[in-house]
Parts: sequence; structure tokens; C-alpha cells
Amino acid sequence: MPRIALISAMQQELSLVLQHMQHSPASAACQCVGGRNFWTGQLFGRDVVAVLCGIGKVSAATTATLLVERFAVQSLLFTGAAGGLGEGVAVGDVVIASALLQHDMDASPLFPRFEAPLYGRAQFCTNAALSDALAQAARSALAAPAAALGDNAVAEFALHRPQLHRGLVISGDRFVSTKLESDTLRQLLPQALAVEMEGAAVAQVCHDFGLPFAVMRTISDRADDTAHVNFMRFIDRVASRYSWAVLRALLARA
Ligand code: ADE
Repeated sequence: MPRIALISAMQQELSLVLQHMQHSPASAACQCVGGRNFWTGQLFGRDVVAVLCGIGKVSAATTATLLVERFAVQSLLFTGAAGGLGEGVAVGDVVIASALLQHDMDASPLFPRFEAPLYGRAQFCTNAALSDALAQAARSALAAPAAALGDNAVAEFALHRPQLHRGLVISGDRFVSTKLESDTLRQLLPQALAVEMEGAAVAQVCHDFGLPFAVMRTISDRADDTAHVNFMRFIDRVASRYSWAVLRALLARA
């Protein structure tokens, strides 16, 4: 059976996946490689390997490579949080990436700014079928936020029905936490919907190995001067629960 990789950057983001894997009939086994714990097992009858990749592009690329080479995955799904950049991309919304780009890649004047040198491209596309399936799962799972989160979190973060956005997500080794920086990114990359720290690295590895890959990010902040304020609590109370609700809807489908 094809094995699916479930990747997140932070502990809280993967905790519900691991809890459910450990309670599934074929309970999860853990293997430590390169300082990361890879949990293999089943979810809804599907073979999965779940891993916490850590934060940043190098950690994400190392993890993706290990998933391909050591764990023989056939597709990769990344879930987590991101800062909203695009107009109307609000805290509590969900973004599914159609393509990813490293916003801190700059080998100019040898190559155009943002282009991955020797690839002839700045953007790496996600797999359309996998992203469509993720979007469909997100639409059904997020139709009732209180069912995924509980009423307390909905009230605490003043969440309304989350909007689903699809488009460009940008990644870099920076937590974008000033309005000045997010304004600059918006100016340079006006089509970017959200900013995070891992997705484009995984996208490049998947491009290298020819494997399908999709990314879902819950918007935790607007990448401005207040980006850090509720970040950890939001990951715990909202992003991790949306991720689980969407993954469950995706994996449970026939
Ligand atoms: N992930 C969540 N919020 C982020 C931000 N503001 N910058 C980079 N990565 C993020």
C-alpha cells in the first residue's frame, strides 16, 4: 500500500496525529534517524509515516529526503501554521499552496532574485490532485469550526467560519514579525498569500525526486509586529486541531 508522509514543524502540530496513530489497531512504531523520530503505522487503514521536521528550510529538506530515501513514501503532506500576507487572508483562515518559493533565495546578479539556482525557476508547484483532495477535505472539515476546535477556542480567537485560499506560499529562514518586513514581501511578491519557514524546501526535494506533495497552513498571524503574541497558544488550540480535522477527512475518504 502506498505510504503517505505527514510532516509538521512543531510538536503541537503533530500531537493529534500521533495520538490517533498510537490508538489505531496497527499501533505506531518509532525509528530515530538523523535526530528525528519517524512514526510508522496506520491511520484509517492507510500506511503513514509521521514526523516532526523541526523549524526552517534545512531541517525540512533533510526530513523530506529521509522520508523518500529511508521510508519509501509515495506522497508527502505538510500541515502547520503560516503568517498571512495576501489581502483578506485572515487569522483562522486556511491556505492550500499551489506553488512555493524561497523568499530569501537571492543569487543575483548571477540568477534572477528568488530563482533556485540551476533550476531555472523560482516556484515549485504542489501536486494538483493531492492539493484538490486536501482542499475538498478542508472545505468539509472546516465548515463547522466549533466541531474541530471546541467553542472555547472559537471564542478566544474570535474565529468565524475559516475561509479557504489557494495560491502561492513563500518560505524563508525568518519568522516574519514586523509590518515593515511583511510590507516589503507583499511589494516584492504581490501574489504571495502566506509566509512560513519550511514548505518551499520540501517542495524542492519533492521536485528532485518526482514525488507528489501538498501543503496546508492555518493562518496564525499577519506576519506583523504582533505576530509572536498568541503564536504558541494558537498553534496548540487552533492550527493543530484544524490540521487533524483536515487530515482525518482526507485519509478517511475511500
Ligand atoms: N509561521 C507562522 N507565522 C509565521 C510568520 N509570521 N513568519 C514565518 N513563519 C510563520
